[in-house]
Amino acid sequence: MGQTPITFIRQVLALVIYPDLISCINVPDDVKKRAQDILNACGGKSAGAYTGSHGIDMIRKNVANYIKNRDGYDSDFNNICLSGGASAAIKYVMELFCNNPCKKSGVMIPIPQYPLYSASIAQFGLEPVGYYLDEDNNWALDVSELQRAIKEAESRCQVRAIVVINPGNPTGSVLSPDNVKTIIKFAKEHNLFIFADEVYQDNVYPSDMKFVSFKKVMMEMGSPFSEMEVASFMSLSKGYMGECGLRGGWMELVNMDKDVQAHLFKAISSNLCPTSLGQAGMDCVAKPPAPGEPSHERWLGEKSAVLASLKSRAKLAADAFNAMPGFKCNEVRGAMYAFPRFEIPKKAIEEAKKQNKAADVFYAFKLLEETGICVVAGSGFGQKPGTYHFRTTILPQPKLLKEMLDIFKNFQEKFLKEFS
Ligand SMILES: Cc1ncc(COP(=O)(O)O)c(C=O)c1O
Repeated sequence: MGQTPITFIRQVLALVIYPDLISCINVPDDVKKRAQDILNACGGKSAGAYTGSHGIDMIRKNVANYIKNRDGYDSDFNNICLSGGASAAIKYVMELFCNNPCKKSGVMIPIPQYPLYSASIAQFGLEPVGYYLDEDNNWALDVSELQRAIKEAESRCQVRAIVVINPGNPTGSVLSPDNVKTIIKFAKEHNLFIFADEVYQDNVYPSDMKFVSFKKVMMEMGSPFSEMEVASFMSLSKGYMGECGLRGGWMELVNMDKDVQAHLFKAISSNLCPTSLGQAGMDCVAKPPAPGEPSHERWLGEKSAVLASLKSRAKLAADAFNAMPGFKCNEVRGAMYAFPRFEIPKKAIEEAKKQNKAADVFYAFKLLEETGICVVAGSGFGQKPGTYHFRTTILPQPKLLKEMLDIFKNFQEKFLKEFS
């Protein structure tokens, strides 16, 4: 998508993978020191060696420190596990819920949701329990809908966990602290484990909104909420980094039952270790160059530029969709996606039926074939019956995004003419 990588991360990675460069290349001293620290912390002082199964201890400690500074509450590095992207960690924890001897375990997931969850739930023989996000209220989470969903699921499974994605994929929503509090209370009432998918924590765009972690809110609420079991996930793929091919991630396990955590860590160790370069990338995220260090200014400038550009593209996309006939798009407040709702004329719905396709899939294919623009139909994420959506990303650079939105508008006008 043409995003410029963060120089500090790439320089550290280059030296970690080819340490001979440390003595001969012209890069800032803090880059050299960081690479050397990471190498020293690697078994065998080489990024080619297996690392500890749950990640390099030095990096786990830096992550714990990052979380402490973010939330204002202690974090124990023994509860941090580095992973090959957030996906791996999410799946490890999800797998804990299989083999319930009494009744199938149910996991509450938002609709629409990022399909990793429905796929993992199916893979581990669990039961999905969907709860709808409130599109008319900027995709907020409504407790009466959570109550409806859990009640409806009681006969088919024992609901044991809830997944919350904040900021949201595909919705672009950001939960308010009050909304997070409501979810925590609901989870407590029903004794649910919380999967807090917080991979977009750096991607919050309105100046009057801020990311707040589940852990922070829970700790602020005090006992008994501060004793609840939560797993929070973070990724190198999102934020200002966008290094999704490196496969870096971490999870923090908050208050997990000690025996369960021991089994989980044992199971994870059978995968040997997450990639050492992904871990090195996470180290740069957890401990970026501090003010006064040689790389700080450049790092801050690049990070701020990426986030500012995403913010303006978030507005550009939502405004453009809202100007198209038959479209309604919520403000893109976070993450990297717009998920507009749109009308499909009756004639097009009939044509889709003839082709044995869902109407939104028919639309997405027609768009792809006629313009080359690729979006994901709303049915891939789940949507209220009778509504149609698609997800598009705001990741293309501004010039390309503008061009794409113009082509999209022409397509939509032509589509409406053809089928009305
Ligand atoms: C909500 C959410 N969680 C997790 C992931 C997976 O991230 P990773 O690349 O770290 O595995 C994604 C990727 O798009 C995502 O959108």
